[in-house]
Amino acid sequence: MIYDDALEIIGSTPLVKLSKIVEKYELKGEIYAKVEYYSPGLSKKDRIAKYIIEKAIRENKLKKGQTVIEQTSGNTGIGLALVCSILGYPFIAVMSEGNSIERVKMIEAFGGKVEIVKQKSKHTGVSKDDMDLVERRFKELTKELNAFPVSQFSNEDNAWAHYYGTGKEILDDLKDVDVFVDFVGTGGSFVGISQRLKEDCDCLCYKVIPDKESHSIQGGGYFKEIPFEEEDLCDGEIVVSSEEAKEGMEELAKVGLYAGISSGANLMGALKVLKNNPNKKVVILLNDVGLKYLSVM
Ligand SMILES: Cc1ncc(COP(=O)(O)O)c(C=O)c1O
Repeated sequence: MIYDDALEIIGSTPLVKLSKIVEKYELKGEIYAKVEYYSPGLSKKDRIAKYIIEKAIRENKLKKGQTVIEQTSGNTGIGLALVCSILGYPFIAVMSEGNSIERVKMIEAFGGKVEIVKQKSKHTGVSKDDMDLVERRFKELTKELNAFPVSQFSNEDNAWAHYYGTGKEILDDLKDVDVFVDFVGTGGSFVGISQRLKEDCDCLCYKVIPDKESHSIQGGGYFKEIPFEEEDLCDGEIVVSSEEAKEGMEELAKVGLYAGISSGANLMGALKVLKNNPNKKVVILLNDVGLKYLSVM
């Protein structure tokens, strides 16, 4: 198939059934993984970058040549860097230093700039306090540069990108889903996909959260409120430790899916669901690729 540019190959990702893993854990039911690293920036965040920037241009909120800025753990920065590069906008990412160097390098490779904010925690993850420091610098720079802030943590379009994209694609492929589990950062994919699935089927939607504040599941687990989440959307939380998430990452790699740590957390969340509720059809996202974490494993 021929495409005009890399923007056109964002989305429409494949769903892979994880039968071998379900069997190995001696469980009954089905887990389907949506391989979101099949995207030019190798993560699900390309979707929100494309959706938000194209909409801002259409609505004349993003002016010609204006700098785009975002506070990011890396993947949204990578998505925005590539979208902005294709569409001709300068981009700057404000990141906490605990995020892996691979993601910094990718943003730079796509022509974006990176502002690293020193963090308090020593582990290879990012805590809520660290996120607050990043937010402060993000606000300062936005003002200084008169930049267009993407603000994925409060921007509803983050969820709409997944509602119209990821959620719809899951329904197109599976028709009905019993359970969706998702490790939460901004909550964009959890909210957007859960809303879309609940409209069409009797789907239970669970958030995957880390066991403690200091964890190494990069990309989320900040214990922050999701401002665009409606009441009653979430049916419960499933706790997954950093060690379990890494185990999940290893299990995925053994079946040919080299996904990142938060994808491992999603898998372990799905296995916990099947343990307590056998014979269900569970969907997870493989958020990004394992190659982005080589330096922290
Ligand atoms: C690797 C990874 N996993 C999970 C998430 C959380 O996704 P969301 O922000 O949609 O909740 C992110 C967000 O940056 C991420 O980069």
